[in-house]
Amino acid sequence: MQHQELTQATHKPWAGRFNEPTDAFVEAFTASVGFDQRLYRHDIQGSQAHARMLARQGILSDSECEAIIQGLERIKTRIEQGDFAWSVPLEDVHMNIEAALTAEIGDAGKRLHTGRSRNDQVATDIRLWLREEVDHIRAAVRRLQGVLVELAEREAETILPGFTHLQAAQPVTFGHHMMAWYEMLERDFERLGDARRRINVMPLGAAALAGTSYPIDRHDTAEQLGFERPAANSLDAVSDRDFAIEFSAAAAILSMHLSRFSEELILWSSAQFGFITLSDAFCTGSSIMPQKKNPDVPELLRGKSARVFGHLIALLTLMKAQPLAYNKDNQEDKEPLFDIVDTLRGGLKVFADMMGALRCNRERMRAAALQGFTTATDLADYLVGKGLAFRDAHEIVGRAVALGVERDCDLTDLSLEELRRFSPVIGEDVFAVLTLEGSVAARDHFGGTAPAQVRAAVARAREVLESRLL
Ligand code: ARG
Repeated sequence: MQHQELTQATHKPWAGRFNEPTDAFVEAFTASVGFDQRLYRHDIQGSQAHARMLARQGILSDSECEAIIQGLERIKTRIEQGDFAWSVPLEDVHMNIEAALTAEIGDAGKRLHTGRSRNDQVATDIRLWLREEVDHIRAAVRRLQGVLVELAEREAETILPGFTHLQAAQPVTFGHHMMAWYEMLERDFERLGDARRRINVMPLGAAALAGTSYPIDRHDTAEQLGFERPAANSLDAVSDRDFAIEFSAAAAILSMHLSRFSEELILWSSAQFGFITLSDAFCTGSSIMPQKKNPDVPELLRGKSARVFGHLIALLTLMKAQPLAYNKDNQEDKEPLFDIVDTLRGGLKVFADMMGALRCNRERMRAAALQGFTTATDLADYLVGKGLAFRDAHEIVGRAVALGVERDCDLTDLSLEELRRFSPVIGEDVFAVLTLEGSVAARDHFGGTAPAQVRAAVARAREVLESRLL
C-alpha cells in the first residue's frame, strides 16, 4: 500500500446477500485498491462519459448527471491532493470512488452504476490508461531514435570493426551501427502502434458479461472516450486481455533491444575495447577498487529486460485457462502492466540521456579495425574484379591471411611482391582496396555502410521522425 492510508470497515455495495462479514485476511488478500488506485483518473473519465451517455438516453436526469460529473471532479482533485482515504474493505479503485461519490452527492451517486459492472469498468479503465502510456512510450522511443540519428550523423565516417561471432569481421562506420539500432527501434515504434489499435476498443456496456437491459448507447460512450469502437461481443469484451499481452510482447521485444544495446555499450566501454566513453554521470565506482568505473546504467537496463519478459509470461499464464467471461484472476493483470510501463519509461529515458552524452574514441576504433584482417573480403572482391571466381579468390586470400597470422602483420603490411606470390593479377591498385576507408566507401548501396549511405539513412530517418510523431 503506497502513499495513502487505508480506513477500515466501510459498507460493501454487494453485501446484500451475505450474512457473515468477510474474513479480515481475505478482505486484504482479495483487495486490489493498493495498486489499482493508480487508475483513478481513467476510472473517473470512464464514469463521467458513462453518466453523460445515461443522461442522453434518459436513464439519468440531467441534474443527476451534472452532480455526478462535478462530484467526480472534486474527488479527482482530492485524490491528487492526497486528501482521499482509500479503503481496503471497499476492495478496489472503482468501489472506493463510487462510495466517495455517494458520500459527496447523495443518492445520485448510487445511480452511476446503472447499466454497467466493475467487469466492463475495469477493462475500460486499463485500456484508457494503457492507451495513454503507449503514447508516452512511443514518444520516448522517438526521442531515443533522435539521439541515435544525431550520433550517426556526427560519426558517419568513424570506422570500427563490425563483428560476427564477436570476431572482427569487416570495417563498418559507427554511424551505420547507430542506424541499425534506429531501425530496431522503428520496428518497436510500429509494433506499439499496432498494439494500440487493439487497445483502443471499448468494453463499457458489456456490463457483467451479457450486456444490459437499459437502452444504452455504446457508440456515444466510445466516441466520448476516444475509442475507435465499442467491443463487438459482451462476453469477449469483459474477458479479453489480448491487448495487454500484445502490448507486453511488444514491450518485451523493445526491452530485448535495449538489453542488446546495453551489452554492446558494456563491451565497448571496457578497457579491452575502449571504443566509447560513457559519461561519469551514468557510471558508478567500486567501494573496494579505486580504479573502477562501472557501466551500471547499461548493466541495469540489460537486467531489467528480465522482469519485462517475466511479466509477458505471467500474463499469458494468467489467461491460458480462464473460461469466459470475467474471472477474478484478471485482477492480476495490473501489476505486471504497471511494472512494464514503469520499467520501459524509465529505461528509455535514461538510455536516451546516456547516449546523448556518449563519446567515441575514434582512434581506438580505428586501431581495432586495422586488426583481424577486416579487409580480407575486399581483397577477395578485388581478385574477382580481376576475373577470378569468388571461391578461388577466397582460397587465395585465406593463404595470404595465414601468412599474416604467421608474421603477426596485416595484409597491408605485405609487400606487393609478397602479395603477387599468391596471385599474379594483383597490382599496385590493391592497396587502395585494402584501406579501411576504401572498404567502407565501396559498400555504397541502399542499406550499406558507406558514409554516403549513412547520411542518406540519416536524412530518411529525420523525415520519418518529423512526420510520424505518433
Ligand atoms: N478489482 C477487480 C479487477 O481488478 C475489478 C473487477 C471486479 N469484478 C468482480 N466481479 N469482482 O479485476
